[in-house]
Amino acid sequence: ETNNQDAEKLAAAIEAVKLVKDGYIVGLGTGSTATFAIKELGKMVQQGLKIKAAASSIQTEALARSFGIEIIDMGILSSIDISIDGADEFTESLELIKGGGGALFREKIMASLSKKTIVVTDASKKVEQLGAFTVPVEVVPLAYQYVFEQIIKLGGKGMRRIKNDKTFVTDNGNFIIDADFGLIRKPVQLASELNQIDGLLAHGLFINLTSKVIMSQGSEIIVFE
Ligand code: A5P
Repeated sequence: ETNNQDAEKLAAAIEAVKLVKDGYIVGLGTGSTATFAIKELGKMVQQGLKIKAAASSIQTEALARSFGIEIIDMGILSSIDISIDGADEFTESLELIKGGGGALFREKIMASLSKKTIVVTDASKKVEQLGAFTVPVEVVPLAYQYVFEQIIKLGGKGMRRIKNDKTFVTDNGNFIIDADFGLIRKPVQLASELNQIDGLLAHGLFINLTSKVIMSQGSEIIVFE
């Protein structure tokens, strides 16, 4: 990861937080780009901005609190005014792969609750077709083998996510299968096939969940909406 990429992530984040207004409930994403936005929001809160926030991961919740942002439980909310999150890949038609950080389930609920979901990225995340990045799939442990085999039936290759030599466990106590479907020609169809698998809590294909992608490239901001 280059400094240039970090500069792009910061620039996209700065652009996104301009959309946050007093009184908003703000959804906070997970990952390095979302972290830039959370830091900026923290500064705005220090300067008097009044917001409450819902966090898409335990990590984000701790980070937000450390910047003085008030956190409320997502489970009691019927809507979020705006959320700001990153992505692992996106296309111009606003289809995404998310979940590289393993927070996909909460991120998906957050996006579903949000009146506006703003995705912030550096230029490396834009693709013609999704699928070079594997699709993260969150699985309830007792359904692990079953779901793994269903992914194979759909033409995918699955890999159990490992971190520090141990099976990665999500904030929800589940496992992740990183599923390689090659380049995905029909993301809508694949998403709906994955949705039908029992024991699969969430997958990283985010379709119709994004209002706007704010991408930073060099000194330019490019908006897809
Ligand atoms: C977290 O689960 C992901 O969906 C992140 O949004 C994604 O991994 C982007 O992270 P970076 O901003 O660190 O690339």
